[in-house]
Amino acid sequence: MMVRTVVRWWAMLPALALLVGAAAHAQESRVPYVPTPQDVVHRMLQIARVTSNDYLIDLGSGDGRIVVTAAAKHGARGFGVDINPTRIAEANENAKKAGVIDKVEFYQRDLFQTDLSQATVISMYLLPRINLDLRPKLLDLKPGTRIVSHDFSMEEWKPDIHETFYSKEKYHGAGGNSELYLWVIPAKVAGEWRWELPLRGKPQAYVVNLNQTFQMLTGNVQVSGRSVPLQVARLRGDELRLTFTADLGAGPVKHELRGKVDGNRFNGTADLSGARSQGRYDVSAVRAAAQ
Ligand SMILES: C[S@@+](CC[C@H](N)C(=O)[O-])C[C@H]1O[C@@H](n2cnc3c(N)ncnc32)[C@H](O)[C@@H]1O
Repeated sequence: MMVRTVVRWWAMLPALALLVGAAAHAQESRVPYVPTPQDVVHRMLQIARVTSNDYLIDLGSGDGRIVVTAAAKHGARGFGVDINPTRIAEANENAKKAGVIDKVEFYQRDLFQTDLSQATVISMYLLPRINLDLRPKLLDLKPGTRIVSHDFSMEEWKPDIHETFYSKEKYHGAGGNSELYLWVIPAKVAGEWRWELPLRGKPQAYVVNLNQTFQMLTGNVQVSGRSVPLQVARLRGDELRLTFTADLGAGPVKHELRGKVDGNRFNGTADLSGARSQGRYDVSAVRAAAQ
């Protein structure tokens, strides 16, 4: 018996549309090749504090200089992706010359189709619109991952560090400024957090409401039936610091909380300083409701 397989061409349209879409996106997201001057590469890696514990991914890696320098000078591992096969060949050649082929890899790939989950550091020299397209994907990376960008910002996502660096090598040796930006991926902390402290033999309840825009936090604390504003609310990766002053019934008490966020849990310490309440307490807070 002969079985005839009829391939209905229209059934393949969705897959075809996906392929065409991906190709068009790659085409659209093309950034011209302009290498980062080597003195700027060194400064980017310094600002990102790259060490041998890091895994660096360069998005649009050109001749591989950022990944190769991270491996050769700082002992980091990592990979680069570039859409252009000539750049990949140059990058592999440079890795060989620098003796770091055991630490780095280069893939011909669209940067938007690249899995970034391994990265502790991401470097990029792209374009403002590409940075903005990448932003949601970057913000979903592990808290604490550092992003270092040459010349282009992320608009309203303000950098943790911004530096203007004079490069002798920029513009083919004519010299000029490079803008360098560093962001640390913030943990997602918005919502209502609760904890208790054993003060003067009695449990004292605290409720903090945090609003978050990127790494910027605002909020208030409800304690002893009153709401007080947060005086300091800082987030760097998963490290959270909150300061507020509350009257616990015997005058104002300054509270300084420091610790780490892990999903819906916070663990750290609270330093209290007031007339009748002082000392350091362990704090274990839970997020009752995320925003
Ligand atoms: C400005 S160069 C930067 C090269 C290198 N990162 C450096 O700083 O020296 C941008 C690089 O991105 C590559 N590129 C452009 N669009 C890309 C895409 N969609 N996916 C991967 N690479 C891309 C280009 O081929 C080029 O090599």
